[in-house]
Amino acid sequence: MPPGLSVTADFLALYMGVPGTLGRPRQCNHLVDFFQMNYLTGKHILLGITGGIAAYKGAELVRQLRLSGADVRVVMTAAATEFIPPLTLQALSGNPVHTDLLDPAAEAAMGHIELARWADALLVAPATADFIARVAEGRANDLLAAVWLACDAPVALAPAMNRAMWENPATAENLATLQARNIRILGPAEGLQACGETGPGRLLETDELVAGLSALFQTGALAGQHVLVTAGPTREAIDPVRYLSNYSSGRMGFAVAAAAAEAGAQVTLVSGPVSLATPAGVERIDVESAADMYSAVMQAVTTADIFISVAAVADYRPADVAPQKLKKESADISLQLVRNPDILAAVAALPDAPFTAGFAAETEHLETNAQQKRRAKGVDMIAANQVGAGLGFGREENALHVFWETGEQQLALADKGKLARQLLDLIARQFHDSHHQGKILKFHAKDST
Ligand code: PMT
Repeated sequence: MPPGLSVTADFLALYMGVPGTLGRPRQCNHLVDFFQMNYLTGKHILLGITGGIAAYKGAELVRQLRLSGADVRVVMTAAATEFIPPLTLQALSGNPVHTDLLDPAAEAAMGHIELARWADALLVAPATADFIARVAEGRANDLLAAVWLACDAPVALAPAMNRAMWENPATAENLATLQARNIRILGPAEGLQACGETGPGRLLETDELVAGLSALFQTGALAGQHVLVTAGPTREAIDPVRYLSNYSSGRMGFAVAAAAAEAGAQVTLVSGPVSLATPAGVERIDVESAADMYSAVMQAVTTADIFISVAAVADYRPADVAPQKLKKESADISLQLVRNPDILAAVAALPDAPFTAGFAAETEHLETNAQQKRRAKGVDMIAANQVGAGLGFGREENALHVFWETGEQQLALADKGKLARQLLDLIARQFHDSHHQGKILKFHAKDST
């Protein structure tokens, strides 16, 4: 399957004529584009709707986003509710629609900060001239503007307004300000407008908005690179029916592999035993024990540019594996354990080592222990997470404190998918910096001979 491709039952219902829950079969000329562009499966999409005539198109947009596999929440300005009833969007999104900044009930359930944290991406469509002016100024005078200000996920807006309003220098300046802040502007299209004029200012077509939103996740930051990731636990056999292992679910490692694929990398994922689907565009190699993982990694690493070691590899294994099931013959038994190879340290010690990023799972002294691990294993970067007491292992969310030789960054508690994308951004920046420095060093070395 091509990277990013995933097909939901509702997608098939709409485009292929298979019965489903969301839509009636219809023809789609953009099927190929859709297959190539969809990185929205499983993503939390916050859709902001502001008060213009194109607000009614929000209904179709919500529907198509859900067909792409996204989980959608809608925030509307007061003016938007005059154009389309929140109930319509609630029914289509399957989630309550948010409209008020100071609604005590909403704040208790999912207030503006929670909504901003929840989002993997925020799209405001249609975005009026007034909304664009307010967010360019950094105002937070309604719920949508406050969410915008609090959101650290990728943000896009799709302007829709009268041609003259679009061409006004004030609007152009506000958009330039937002573009300089890395806000993606989708459209507008040109054509006949609701006011009877013709020109730029129409909201893009729904499938163009969906494709534009999907493209937010395709950063291209690791295009052309081969990223090798390990994930999950390992199992160390005691006898034919028993093993030593840990609580790793593989979620963090799979999210890292998915984020690397979205960043444009060729991704190989070496995974211990987990029950997770392989992320789109990722080549997966399944292993059981630390020794198996070591062999698979050493084989794949020869072409890797980046190695990210997320697996919870067992440090020890039983010295001997009993050929038959052990019997309950005595009150106590002892297992002799021997050390497993340290895969991350072995990769970092290779003569032509890739850029290496490890994880540090710590129950205490997070920073000191992680830094000590980074130096001891000789890795470029280490992402430390607090584990135990319901943290880290098996959870949907995590928080990381990332260290490298010349810096550090904290990544706040978030869904592992979102956290993985933030981590991959950091890794890509450090990787490109180190690559660049390496080239300069090589150039100087050549110069001096
Ligand atoms: O899988 P989840 O349920 O989503 O949980 C995620 C996680 C908690 C497992 C993950 O975030 C994490 O912390 N992974 C690393 C777990 C670990 O083994 O940490 P460590 O501090 O023991 O090891 C340090 C580093 O050395 C890790 O990058 C590990 O992959 C690597 N290692 C360790 C031992 C070994 N023999 N070989 C290794 O390569």
